[in-house]
Amino acid sequence: MAVSCAETSPSAAADITDIGHCRGALPLPDGERVGVRRLGRSRGRFPLTPALSPTGRGSRPRVGRCIASIVSATIVTMALFSSSPSFAQDKAAAPRKFNIGRVATPQEISGWDIDVRPDGQGLPDGKGSVADGEEIYMAKCAACHGEFGEGAGRWPVLASGKGTLKSDDPVKTVGSYFPYAASVFDYVRHAMPFGDAQSLTNDELYAVTAYVLNLNDIVPEDFVLSKETFGNIKMPNAGGFYDDDRETAEKAFWNPKPCMSDCKPPVKVTARARVIDVTPEDAKGRPGAD
Ligand code: HEC
Repeated sequence: MAVSCAETSPSAAADITDIGHCRGALPLPDGERVGVRRLGRSRGRFPLTPALSPTGRGSRPRVGRCIASIVSATIVTMALFSSSPSFAQDKAAAPRKFNIGRVATPQEISGWDIDVRPDGQGLPDGKGSVADGEEIYMAKCAACHGEFGEGAGRWPVLASGKGTLKSDDPVKTVGSYFPYAASVFDYVRHAMPFGDAQSLTNDELYAVTAYVLNLNDIVPEDFVLSKETFGNIKMPNAGGFYDDDRETAEKAFWNPKPCMSDCKPPVKVTARARVIDVTPEDAKGRPGAD
């Protein structure tokens, strides 16, 4: 979601009036990206195919994008505070500072409020089996992720890779990397199928998540995934994350008194490329390939 039009403070983000604000690239602080997928790592090496980009956000006209961003920022900000009913009421009752837009409706907020926490909080009602998930996966996911999660072409691999994280060639997948099963559901719910995100029903999401977990040998073939069965799943890399301890673990590497000025002796230029004649010349003496 583009949030570059928003100002940095939550209240300001909810009340932006002036399209002029849209020029700066002021990202909202992380905490405000409610409902935006968390585990998404930009891989860079998977370019959008031309077939997908015309419908993507990136191709919208500039002003349109700004307006969309304001609306998104407004709704997202409202969603952030919707957990505090008193805030929502105060906000509705308060005089509208810039007299533009309107307070997002609970229905609009619920459209954004789809995040699922690692402990499963936020999981919707519904259920889906590995068998049903296989059908959905074949129809809507396999074209990119491969029939067995092996990744088609250069699209992301979803299965295998266990035990590779510490190797020279780590393969990050649902099985090797994701610490929580609920985060897989959350990710797929927010972002997949790529190009047609949020098109699956809750039952389909449960089923396809169950299938991806099965591809990684995390749940058996007869498994049915639901709010109730999520708690039984143990992800292989659940213990693989820890607080950043570099300050202590790498203390020995850090120079307590780093050099801040005149740190290198001055460089003495002993010869110029022009003078020592390293540039090849053509027959007429012009620089170029020989
Ligand atoms: C058009 C291609 C495409 C389709 C179809 C697609 N995906 Fe994806 N998927 C991607 C791309 C690209 C990423 C990586 C996105 C990123 O990192 O920002 C991804 C990432 C993922 C991830 C996270 C992988 C990781 O280890 O970070 C999961 C899980 C996933 N997809 C599941 C699914 C499921 C389930 C479906 C079907 C409902 C699906 N995808 C359909 C392209 C696709």
